Amino acid sequence: MNLDLFSDSPEDKPKALNAFELASQKASELRQILHRYAYAYYTLDAPEVPDAEYDRLFRQLQEIEHQHPTLATADSPTQRVGGAVLPEFTSVRHQVPMLSIRTETDTGASGAIAFDARVRKELGLTEDAPQVSYVAELKFDGLAMSLRYEKGVLVQAATRGDGEQGEDVTHNIRTIGQIPLLLPSDVPVVLEVRGEVYMRRDDFDTLNQRQLQKIADGIKGEKTFVNPRNAAAGAVRQLDSNIAAQRPLSFFAYGLGEVAGWPVGHPPFQNHYAFLQTLKAWGFPVAIQTKCVLGASGLVAFHQEIAQQRDALPYDIDGVVYKVNELALQEKLGFVTREPRWAVAHKYPAQEELTTVLDIDVQVGRTGKLTPVAKLAPVFVGGVTVTNATLHNEDEARRKDVRIGDTVIVRRAGDVIPEVVGVIIEKRQLGTEIFTMPHICPVCASPAVRDEDEADYRCTGGLFCGAQRKQAFLHFAQRRAVEVDGLGEKLIDQLVDAGVIRTLPDLYKLGLTALVQLDRMAEKSALNILKALEASKETSLPRFIYGLGIRHVGEATAKEFARHFGTLDALMNASLEELLQVADVGPIVAQSVLTFFAQAHHQEIVAQLRACGVRWPEGPPAERASLPLAGKTIVLTGTLPNLGRDEAKAMLEAAGAKVAGSVSQKTSYVVAGSEAGSKLEKAMALGVPVLDEPGLLALLKGDSNDSP
Ligand code: IVH
Repeated sequence: MNLDLFSDSPEDKPKALNAFELASQKASELRQILHRYAYAYYTLDAPEVPDAEYDRLFRQLQEIEHQHPTLATADSPTQRVGGAVLPEFTSVRHQVPMLSIRTETDTGASGAIAFDARVRKELGLTEDAPQVSYVAELKFDGLAMSLRYEKGVLVQAATRGDGEQGEDVTHNIRTIGQIPLLLPSDVPVVLEVRGEVYMRRDDFDTLNQRQLQKIADGIKGEKTFVNPRNAAAGAVRQLDSNIAAQRPLSFFAYGLGEVAGWPVGHPPFQNHYAFLQTLKAWGFPVAIQTKCVLGASGLVAFHQEIAQQRDALPYDIDGVVYKVNELALQEKLGFVTREPRWAVAHKYPAQEELTTVLDIDVQVGRTGKLTPVAKLAPVFVGGVTVTNATLHNEDEARRKDVRIGDTVIVRRAGDVIPEVVGVIIEKRQLGTEIFTMPHICPVCASPAVRDEDEADYRCTGGLFCGAQRKQAFLHFAQRRAVEVDGLGEKLIDQLVDAGVIRTLPDLYKLGLTALVQLDRMAEKSALNILKALEASKETSLPRFIYGLGIRHVGEATAKEFARHFGTLDALMNASLEELLQVADVGPIVAQSVLTFFAQAHHQEIVAQLRACGVRWPEGPPAERASLPLAGKTIVLTGTLPNLGRDEAKAMLEAAGAKVAGSVSQKTSYVVAGSEAGSKLEKAMALGVPVLDEPGLLALLKGDSNDSP
């Protein structure tokens, strides 16, 4: 007998817990946390943590329960789907439970391969048996909905709730235009269609802009939403359907609940794909990406293909879903606890993650704009390691109340710059301080001021401010402006800090001696810089105007100015009225140009640059209307087989067309290459003519017959 175990001497240290006790304690702790998070997510529509964090904790609990099955209590979150019915809603019992799907978090190809292997094993298929047919779908990031039709009429819409009982939200779902209220006559007497209610990203942005305006107008109780899913869930569970109707929602169908009473001559479906096709014919939106694929290789290819498109889709997805196609096989495979064995969700890397704020920096931009930036503990999100996230401006930073030391949710979706979407208040430490914008420039100590109608603080130091000077050089030297090859951020930092360059013309006065004195600058690189500077002198008027960095004058506006005025002098001498005549130029841009050239030191800079040999061809103002594509607006999307995007754009502009970034009713043509995404979809929806590369070339040659 081990006497130690029974010793009750007061000097004894607390007994070490054994592995089972530890696991039991950990499981109970995880259950408690997950319950809280699930309640916040499903029931209150106010998630406390990103999905990725929830998934991680969920998997930890699953793992413990797998090793110690007796710890899997009946109330464990692993044993049921999240969500409960809020007392305000009438509850609906689902005749066929709304289940969840197993999640494959291995975001690589092996996730798909493992699923196929499991299915084959469960079905008892030998190695030489044919490949299994699957339907591959998108995993929409919204909320599941069950739509009940009786004799073809929508009679009820219910949320998933806990899977057995959901909430009756029919009044709100009726406001979604994409959901048919009446079906054709050949549908079963009872038909429950299941799918996802979601919010498109553009609709989400518009909604949040509107919410911001309401907050600015002092309307009480209004807030912005952290992500489209959260906004969609909030809209669906509004008690007032007028409010729900103002929140634009969309729907995709992907599944079936109760079905009874098929019309004579209409047999039930044999496979899931046929079912989806029928849903489409009945008027339900089914995602066009949905595909029938064969075996593991088909699944892997689909996962990769959608990964490429993910950022271009007009809505959020967090993965793809694979479903065994044949319904007979689905039945054979059956279910394990809360999940079917015939389906799996294969995730993509998360676009939201948790991290901590190490510091809040204030950066100074080219136009003197002060931007607060959260310095973050490095976190892998949206496919990259993120260490900085913009807080935009004082109001945004205040609204989110981000403080140094806070645990925050960072989001990075697509090419969008990383953003702090919210703070986990529960994790805030004592003694943190509210962030305030400095009233002096952190770089040059000049006063920073915020104009009444502006959201931003600006440094008043102008080109005296090192930060603005550096940005001005960087802007001038970039590829789209005057283009000085090799003159990048590091070199400009060195040159400005050493006081070698103060204004743009100083660049052209640089000599070999000054350059080789810089840190780590070999003679060969210095000679290359000088060569690049020499080459940059031969430029074009639009590039030069853009390169000057006049506030509000972007690349497209610079091109318009060059085309309209023909010469720099004409632009410099233009009156406000004359500037306003230029296409797409309004009072803000016109005033900014006027103010810029009215300043003597700017005139001096232009004169000196010319004296240094910077030159461009000039001509009479263009007769725009006589150009073949004058008045046409064209949108480029996807990758063309031969022409680069810049090349196609330049050709179109030379022919008088305007190249725009988004498709609208006013778009004359969309030129689509491979992997064209939402823009192509929108063009088709609006009936805008779509051209491929040969079509574009024909248009440029003037071979087109139709004239939209
Ligand atoms: S099928 C029995 N298909 O993911 C299978 N679900 O955890 C039922 N979801 O609650 C679900 N896209 O909210 C299915 N193409 C898709 C989906 C999808 C998103 C959601 C749905 C469900 C959850 C599964």
